[in-house]
Amino acid sequence: MSTDAPLLRLEGVNKRFGGLVVLNDVSFAVAPGEIVGLVGPNGSGKTTTINVISGVYRADSGRITFDGQPVHHVPMHRLAHLGINRTFQVPRTFRDMTVRENVEVAAHFGRPQAAVDIDAVLRDIDLHDQAGKLAGSLTVNQQKLLDLGRALATGPKLLLVDEIGAGLNPAELGGIADLLKRLAARGIALVVVEHLLDFLGRLTDRVIVLGAGRMLFQGSLAAASRDPEVVAAFIGG
Ligand SMILES: Nc1ncnc2c1ncn2[C@@H]1O[C@H](COP(=O)(O)OP(=O)(O)O)[C@@H](O)[C@H]1O
Ligand SMILES: [Mg+2]
Repeated sequence: MSTDAPLLRLEGVNKRFGGLVVLNDVSFAVAPGEIVGLVGPNGSGKTTTINVISGVYRADSGRITFDGQPVHHVPMHRLAHLGINRTFQVPRTFRDMTVRENVEVAAHFGRPQAAVDIDAVLRDIDLHDQAGKLAGSLTVNQQKLLDLGRALATGPKLLLVDEIGAGLNPAELGGIADLLKRLAARGIALVVVEHLLDFLGRLTDRVIVLGAGRMLFQGSLAAASRDPEVVAAFIGG
């Protein structure tokens, strides 16, 4: 709802690696419980946007506020305490630990007042029956769910999801789409980086399009696909 104070706000965020400008004046806001898609060609700065919001990298300039407070200088572990967490393009789980241990360890890094129920997280990610299995023995889909479960175990208010759909079959994609929608319905805001636009369209109609680190478009997915600058960026990229 537009009357809600935004949970997350980026204002004029810039990031360069050496001489390469990777984010150029990126500004957008996300409301509590809102799902926003972040799309763009390979190398357009989607993962870097997530890395800057989650504190993996610090923005060179610009402002990021979360829950009304400036967070662009807050280190990653403290951002998790405040309620920002993320998944990884390549899932980062501890392969030699069980599914349950993976979720338990992650819970220690989370929001102190969140009181997360580990069993509830395991049921959310549909791995309750596999809780005693080693993470390294899981399928790709289950690895992605476990990575998501580790983020959920921190009790996030904002979850940044990086290309979770890549490599999954239609049934698996359907399951993840349903789960992400349930999380948003509970009030968790989601920024979803995704190449699979059908999958993204099931989650939200609001997308931000990046091209070479610049915001090319913000609006509905249907309107994005008709925007000449967006079309040119995808064909060029
Ligand atoms: N740690 C880094 N050091 C140097 N260049 C990087 C680093 N991370 C990303 N980049 C560069 O930044 C650009 C954007 O990368 P990324 O955000 O991963 O794109 P996307 O996720 O949209 O594919 C790419 O040109 C990439 O090579
Ligand atoms: Mg990426």
